[in-house]
Amino acid sequence: MLLSCFFLIIGALIGTVSAIPDFLQQPLVEKLWPSFEDPSSTDSNAGSSSTPALTGRFLHITDLHPDPHYKARSSTDEDDACHRGKGSAGYFGAEGSECDAPFTLINETFRWIEKHLKGNIDFVIWTGDSARHDNDEKAPRTEDEVSDLNKIIADKFFDTFKEGSAKVPSIPIVPTFGNNDIMPHNIFKNGPNRWTKRFLDIWAKFIPEYQRHSFVEGGWFTSEVIPNRLAVISLNTMYFFDSNSAVDGCSCKSQPGYEHMEWLRVQLKLLRSRNMKAILIGHVPPARSGSKRSWDETCWQKYTLWVHQYRDVIAGTAYGHMNIDHFMLQDSHKINILGPMAALGDTSDKVSVQSRSGYLASLREDWSKLPSPPQITWDALEKLSKENSCETPTTDPNLMKSKKKKRKFLKKIGGPWAERYSVSLVSPSLVPNYFPSLRVIEYNISGMADAATWADVRDQSIALDGSSSEIIEGDLSLGKKGKKKKKLPHHKVPDPPSSTAPPGPAYSNQPLTWLGYTQYFANLTRINDEMSHYHEAELDGATKMNNNDIFSFEVEYDTRNDHIYKMEDLTVRSFFKLASRIAKGYATAADISPCEMNNNDLRSEETGIDNNDNDINLQKKKKHKKKKEKNKVWRAFLERAFVGFLDDDDINDF
Ligand SMILES: *[C@@H]1O[C@H](CO)[C@@H](O)[C@H](O)[C@H]1NC(C)=O
Ligand SMILES: *[C@@H]1O[C@H](CO)[C@@H](O)[C@H](O)[C@H]1NC(C)=O
Ligand SMILES: *[C@@H]1O[C@H](CO)[C@@H](O)[C@H](O)[C@H]1NC(C)=O
Repeated sequence: MLLSCFFLIIGALIGTVSAIPDFLQQPLVEKLWPSFEDPSSTDSNAGSSSTPALTGRFLHITDLHPDPHYKARSSTDEDDACHRGKGSAGYFGAEGSECDAPFTLINETFRWIEKHLKGNIDFVIWTGDSARHDNDEKAPRTEDEVSDLNKIIADKFFDTFKEGSAKVPSIPIVPTFGNNDIMPHNIFKNGPNRWTKRFLDIWAKFIPEYQRHSFVEGGWFTSEVIPNRLAVISLNTMYFFDSNSAVDGCSCKSQPGYEHMEWLRVQLKLLRSRNMKAILIGHVPPARSGSKRSWDETCWQKYTLWVHQYRDVIAGTAYGHMNIDHFMLQDSHKINILGPMAALGDTSDKVSVQSRSGYLASLREDWSKLPSPPQITWDALEKLSKENSCETPTTDPNLMKSKKKKRKFLKKIGGPWAERYSVSLVSPSLVPNYFPSLRVIEYNISGMADAATWADVRDQSIALDGSSSEIIEGDLSLGKKGKKKKKLPHHKVPDPPSSTAPPGPAYSNQPLTWLGYTQYFANLTRINDEMSHYHEAELDGATKMNNNDIFSFEVEYDTRNDHIYKMEDLTVRSFFKLASRIAKGYATAADISPCEMNNNDLRSEETGIDNNDNDINLQKKKKHKKKKEKNKVWRAFLERAFVGFLDDDDINDF
């Protein structure tokens, strides 16, 4: 019942968005950034002591998985984990394997970041898994090793971004818990616990003073990365994670997931009242497609409701964990939180092991069901949505019919900004399951030339915003066991944006809107190869050369000038359009049998085991290939999911 109220409100909003400039015609902004190939490009680092203005970019790095036991030229077999044996493990990492990252890769990555990104970005989001996997029975992890590895990575971030003798880095760095940052992995109990206490110390330079209390409670915090303008909210997705058997979702008050959602709701409410925007970050993304359910359904429900209700506040969301480059749409029509929660989340079909290729195919299937636009440009749709239907009498029945169709489409997607949906971005990992990867996101800073930066206020960061910290503290006490000040209704539904509020930065291009991202990768096949030639040359007595001359990241793709994705910006509407384009032709691809789909599991491709040993099968497959290859957007999406690591044949086999 309440749901239908939301949509009535949204419906009413559609008519009130006329003050928004036409952003579809914006020119592609020239990169302000010197080319990475240009050797003179480092002078932006030259130590000017005055606080630099905002650059309009930030770094997203995820899943570093440093492994001190890694040995070059060891075996990449699962049992050996690049710790022993003889094999193909490269000097900078074993690309395309399940091995973790050697410190050569970690160190060179930070060196590259310092050289190329320092001074060119405003903040860093770092979405977890900064310890090795517990995947070697012969060398099990210890709690101290897990903390120590995290400490080393935290120090690397600080050293990379420190300035002079300052106790905090020159730009804010916002970490979050990964499922491998704790022991045993995946298991994160109610806070305060020994992990929230350990990380309070490990991340001391990154957690604002006034958030320390909140952090110990549940491992979550916010960081005002642009004071009074933009906050990054670090979610502890361990409490939403379906594989965390120590907790049970977000519907019961006794659960930390419930507390976390309440805390998040309060943060977003507070930010709205301060006219600020938020970026949500976490480790495990809210994946929910096919049989894949990364979050407990009750948490997914609340999250989707929260981000929908606070769609005027949230500028974007970023996750890691899955190692593949992709995105997902949350559909607010899937919210049924107001019905009995018990009816949610059919636990019987929770399949945790699903091939990644199957998962991507199921995303595509979902997207093939998105409402499809009538034959008309979005510009025209937008104009139409501003028209008052009563004022445009037309006697042409065809015109009336087509207008009706268009209105119907707009209504389906939640108006011209597609506000029915929200989007979650997943960046691929640094650990080279494919190729090591990093993402630099560009955002709109128009009119923010004089915004105070974090560095301006860092020395008073304790008193960053006294009034807000008071409110935060007040609301936090709700979460403290035995000290509940007031009873919360069972499902507190956040207020939607005010009816006069313009669409938020995730929906229409404005200050703090994400404009695009550049995906970087290091081609370890080439780099490891060059490194071994170099080692040979060194043995022959050649002059000493630096690793730095060999290792580097290069651009994989840049959404700002990408001819396949063709994204004007990173608004939800742009992702809606991209998802529709990826899904195009899904029906023809779908006549491949489900069994064949499963046989295309990536692992079997990687190990070279081919399931097709009979000709008839092969011919059938070729036929399917031809049909499927037609959609080059889907193909690019797949190539990029695996950071360009797979070759044409692998991709064709999807
Ligand atoms: C990586 O850097 C650290 C210093 O931050 C150093 O102690 C370590 O030896 C380096 N490791 C490698 C493999 O270069
Ligand atoms: C940033 O947003 C403003 C609207 O507030 C728009 O005019 C401008 O074109 C946007 N900048 C970019 C680079 O898209
Ligand atoms: C990576 O390098 C190898 C060897 O030089 C090359 O064959 C391959 O095409 C490169 N891959 C990409 C994605 O650039």
